[in-house]
Parts: sequence; structure tokens; C-alpha cells
Amino acid sequence: MNLSMPIVCKSPQELEKMRRSGAIVRTVLDELKAMVKPGIATMDLERHAERRVKELGAKPAFKGYHEYPCVLCTSVNHEIVHGIPSEKRKLQEGDIVSIDCGVVLDGYYGDAAITVAVGENIGPEAQKLLAVTEASLARAIEKVRIGNSVGDIGAAVQQVVEANGFSVVRDFVGHGIGTKLHEDPQVPNFGTPGHGARLREGMVLAIEPMVNAGKPGARVLDDNWTAVTVDGSISAHFEHCVAVTKNGPLVLTA
Ligand code: MF3
Ligand code: CO
Repeated sequence: MNLSMPIVCKSPQELEKMRRSGAIVRTVLDELKAMVKPGIATMDLERHAERRVKELGAKPAFKGYHEYPCVLCTSVNHEIVHGIPSEKRKLQEGDIVSIDCGVVLDGYYGDAAITVAVGENIGPEAQKLLAVTEASLARAIEKVRIGNSVGDIGAAVQQVVEANGFSVVRDFVGHGIGTKLHEDPQVPNFGTPGHGARLREGMVLAIEPMVNAGKPGARVLDDNWTAVTVDGSISAHFEHCVAVTKNGPLVLTA
């Protein structure tokens, strides 16, 4: 049984709308990054994001999605993705925090994530993890070209991550995005060059490497959302929405 839907290609007008939703996500993430420091609670980030998404004229994409309770996902240290903001979760010097934000504006979605150091001294392994994860996303974005395949994207992420001794999470994947938060195709962060769906003009992909410093295993906590590493190692997450165009990759969340 194949439950996948056709992959929707977007017109230049639609890409322009997605650029506007992507710009709002970026504005909010930039502001949140500047707020991250020891002593701040992840709920402080949530409150700021909720207010700013509204002020900028958009609606949060995650809140209410499969009953997810918040505007942001905030995932600290060994949390991989889908951490739920909390008043009790105060960030400490040396932590890393992944912040994932999605919005919808005029019917079109934007979705992006960053991982941020808390304080000035996150330690060499965490520093390297952030740099490698972001570099793997940059390398994957380079593959977003007409005629390439979804497997080229996953292979690019995997190559950068594994060459640096880290591991790619298998249990969660990137996705198409447009008038829905999650569209086909799925975009794994591993794969074989030349395999999977071919990229066509107007496709938009949310590419989101999730990288563990240790082993790739993930499990979900009893809150039914927070995904953590099985081995307790730290994990990073960066995400961009990228359109396939005649001129190469167009990053809508830049
Ligand atoms: N960026 C993530 C994703 O695309 C965040 C989803 S959180 C959810 O899946 F609550 F909306 F599920
Ligand atoms: Co996403």
C-alpha cells in the first residue's frame, strides 16, 4: 500500500508567499537566539514567539497540530526534537537548545529550526556538533536542484555528519511543505545518491538534519512528544525550507 500523495509544485507567486512566511519564522528565530542566556526559561522563549508571530500577522503552525500545545519546540541537550516549552526548564551555562518554529501566513507555511549555545562555554564537543549539523544542512541545500533526487539530499547530510564521527537520527525526517505543514515527499537525512523522488521546479522541501553526538537511537518520553537520544548524548537540529528553481536552491527561511 502506498499512501503517499502527489508532490505539489509551487508557482513563483506561491513561492513569494512562502518567502513571506519564511521571513517571519526567521525574524522570530533571530529574536529568540538573542534572548537565549543562562537563567531564561524555555517558556520565556515560547511567550515571546507567540506574541511576535501574532504581531507579524501570521498564525503558529505547531500549536494544535496533532494537539501539540505550543508555538515552539524547544529541545535541550539530549533532547532531539519536539521538546515542549516549560516554565520549569531554565537554561544553564553550557547547555545547547534547539528552537523550532513554524507559521502559516495567507495559507502558506514556513518552518525552520536553529540550535543555540547557552552562555559562552558550551565545550568543544557541543561546539563541533552545532557546526557540523549546520554544515550538513548547507551541503544538503546545495543538492536542491532540478533533476537531483531526494536521496542526494540525505546522502549529503549523512556524509558530512558521519565523516565527523556523529550520527544521523533515522526516526524523524524532513518533508515537503506548502499549503500544509507536512507534504510529500519525506526527506530523510540519510540515503543513496540518485535514489528517491526526482526534484522538479517549484518543489519546496523542509530539510532538517537531527544529529546526535553519540548513537543514532531516539525514543519519545511519556509526554508523548519529547524525543531524546537513547544513549543520553547531546543532539542538534537545524532546518530550512528550500525551493527548487531554475536558478538553483532558493532558501525561503533565510
Ligand atoms: N519542524 C517540525 C516538523 O516539521 C516540527 C513539528 S512540531 C509539531 O515536524 F508539533 F507540529 F508536530
Ligand atoms: Co519541519
